[in-house]
Amino acid sequence: MKINHVVILGAGTMGQGIAQWFTQQNIIVELVDQNHLSAVACLQRINQSFDKLVTSGKLLAVDVENYKKNISAKNFESINPNADLVIEAIYENLDAKKTLFQYLDASMNKETIFASNTSSFPITQLASSVTEERKKKFLGLHFFNPATIMKLVEVISGLDTEAALSNSMIEWFNSKGKIACLCSDSPGFIVNRVARNFYGEALRSVDTYDVEKFHEVDNVMKEVGGFKMGPFELMDMIGIDINFSVTESVYRSFFDEPRFKPHRLQRDMVAAGRLGKKTGKGFYHYES
Ligand code: NAI
Repeated sequence: MKINHVVILGAGTMGQGIAQWFTQQNIIVELVDQNHLSAVACLQRINQSFDKLVTSGKLLAVDVENYKKNISAKNFESINPNADLVIEAIYENLDAKKTLFQYLDASMNKETIFASNTSSFPITQLASSVTEERKKKFLGLHFFNPATIMKLVEVISGLDTEAALSNSMIEWFNSKGKIACLCSDSPGFIVNRVARNFYGEALRSVDTYDVEKFHEVDNVMKEVGGFKMGPFELMDMIGIDINFSVTESVYRSFFDEPRFKPHRLQRDMVAAGRLGKKTGKGFYHYES
């Protein structure tokens, strides 16, 4: 597999990490966002992160100089149509993702591979927005936050994805130090499906807003269960809004399967703007 040039759509939390990781593989990266200033700001954050990594001795200045040359913030009009791979990491909205893929399908080279970083939408549904030819080159690449550090990449084949493509992609990621695994195209793939109960049962066991109980559950899961983070800490880190929308999507995709039912506390906290670390208040409070 040859990947020399990647376009990342959506310069948010995930777009930033994915873009930085690909840049560190000496690949040319173009960052695109519907709000161009967000792409520019994201590029600045990546460059700052590179500078910190040089200061702390984790990267060499000479390498970082090349990385910085290889990454740029682009407008939709200036995307290189011959990129090898496009990764969509825009917000979790099915219609917005499909509209974007339809646009890209018409403007990109027929050989370009299309990937979505969706947490919950079936790849086959997303691929319904592109031509039959492109469907063969359309797959899910689900990274984890922070994408520069987390090794796992779930590779999801849709109904029409060429098996050879998914297999080559897995080999390629493994050769670059990631741990890639093949997932079936079912809601939540592997990790987000299994994790629904990590969050859901924790919420159901506490049931109301009670910080002491959140601590208790988190501590048990860490000290007894061996998890690095407890469910409430993790929801605060991911963003309660994002976690809630993934839960809703998985629940609906399984035709309202009770095991995946969201909890009213999630809905109420989103309505109140308590979104976790990013807003300073979630299950816990954070100093700014
Ligand atoms: P985010 O909200 O941080 O960033 C989304 C970005 O996409 C924003 O900058 C927004 O301006 C841009 N955008 C929205 N519509 C666009 C369009 N049509 N064209 C170009 N840019 C557009 O979202 P985040 O957290 O980075 O999530 C992105 C995707 O990754 C979602 O599908 C999410 O489910 C998935 N994901 C998120 C994880 C997380 O921990 N946050 C983990 C793994 C996957």
